[in-house]
Amino acid sequence: MLFRSPLPRLLPALFLLVLLAAMTHDAHAQPPEEFNEDESKVEAYTLPDLLVGPDGEEVTTPEGWRTVARPRWMEILEEQEYGRRPAPVPVTAEKVERGEGPGGTRRIQARLRLGQGPDAPATEVLLYLPPLSLPPDRPGAARFPTFLHLNFGGNHAETADPAVRIPAGWVPNGKETGVTENRALAASRGTLAHRWPIDRLAARGFATATAYYGDVFPDRADGRAESALPSLGYESDRARLAPDEPGAISTWAWQLSRILDWLVTLPEIDPERVIVVGHSRLGKTALWAGAGDERFAMVVSNESGCGGAALERRNFGETVRRITTVFPHWFCPNFAGWAGRAPEMPFDQHVLLAMTAPRPLYVASAAEDLWADPRGEFLAAVAAAPAWELFGKEGLGTADFPAPDAPVGGSIGYHVRSGAHDLLAWDWERFADFAEKALPRGR
Ligand code: GCU
Repeated sequence: MLFRSPLPRLLPALFLLVLLAAMTHDAHAQPPEEFNEDESKVEAYTLPDLLVGPDGEEVTTPEGWRTVARPRWMEILEEQEYGRRPAPVPVTAEKVERGEGPGGTRRIQARLRLGQGPDAPATEVLLYLPPLSLPPDRPGAARFPTFLHLNFGGNHAETADPAVRIPAGWVPNGKETGVTENRALAASRGTLAHRWPIDRLAARGFATATAYYGDVFPDRADGRAESALPSLGYESDRARLAPDEPGAISTWAWQLSRILDWLVTLPEIDPERVIVVGHSRLGKTALWAGAGDERFAMVVSNESGCGGAALERRNFGETVRRITTVFPHWFCPNFAGWAGRAPEMPFDQHVLLAMTAPRPLYVASAAEDLWADPRGEFLAAVAAAPAWELFGKEGLGTADFPAPDAPVGGSIGYHVRSGAHDLLAWDWERFADFAEKALPRGR
């Protein structure tokens, strides 16, 4: 039987199909990543030993920690994860304003010029001091312990106080703030105030300060060119970065240190009791700021997750691959190279937590926030404890994951709040409880 192939007739159509496929095919396309949020799928892992020096030598004393282990870990974290820490610059307070804030607090706003000359970057700091009506005979009350945190939406979103200044630059769009075109709005005033209980902290004798993180690095993949980094001599072109180029987290940490430079000049602030706090990506930032700047007397990480308090090796929730793909600007370029290679990493996040030792550290999680891996945050705190123990201090005091809403801890505090990813008054009250014990007045 004579067989006539249909091929010649179909050839033009086939050719078109192949052409179309070639045009739409992305050579880098990967199957979508799957995220593990199932505890039974966490495989066994071994964490790098904290108490070793660069040549594998064992570190057994506080002196050894300070001079051998700690500098070695800082070098690794700078080189492999966050990038270099920009150097200090002179800080000048401009446009200082004082007034009355919520609950009888005393408001101070200042624009801090970070560097020389009118074109140097600036950040607006908003600070509330406890009311003068606080018992003046209380020991140490003249100089207040102070919480400092960066915020996501601008200082005006953190409180309904109508006197608070509004950022002029780029701000993220957000459902809560109502921002849709990356411009700050007066209508956002107080929309994130549930994250910052100013009067409750003031009533307990704490001053509390904030600044908008976008003042020094707008939180976008292409934010570098508008960041403070070019003014500090760093590359602005994303395509030409050094493997250890500072990322946004290092820049935000630098902002916190520059704000601290100013806070410690104020007669109302106790320079020995400034506590750095951060939520989520800004929790990662608080940990890195506290690691690099030992003037922070205590560090608080709230639901900081991947690249923050959570152990990478558990492969639970967010991963290095995902975080460095969606937020490539947060870390140094080297960090992306560890995607999918957690067991080979020379560090894990317990190292970052240990950088706070021997100062008090508080790690907070939320039970429903599996993306940030609450148990992985707790286990990192357990694994960091040997650094405190070298100083004769107790770390967490337990290796058992606590029940929701039941804080635990020694020199390291921990809680897992019931509920979702957020920073709530309840969390702040626990930070204050811990600070009252860990940083007593009149030390
Ligand atoms: C994303 C990101 C987290 C980050 C969080 C936040 O969820 O994946 O790593 O902590 O944003 O900052 O709110």
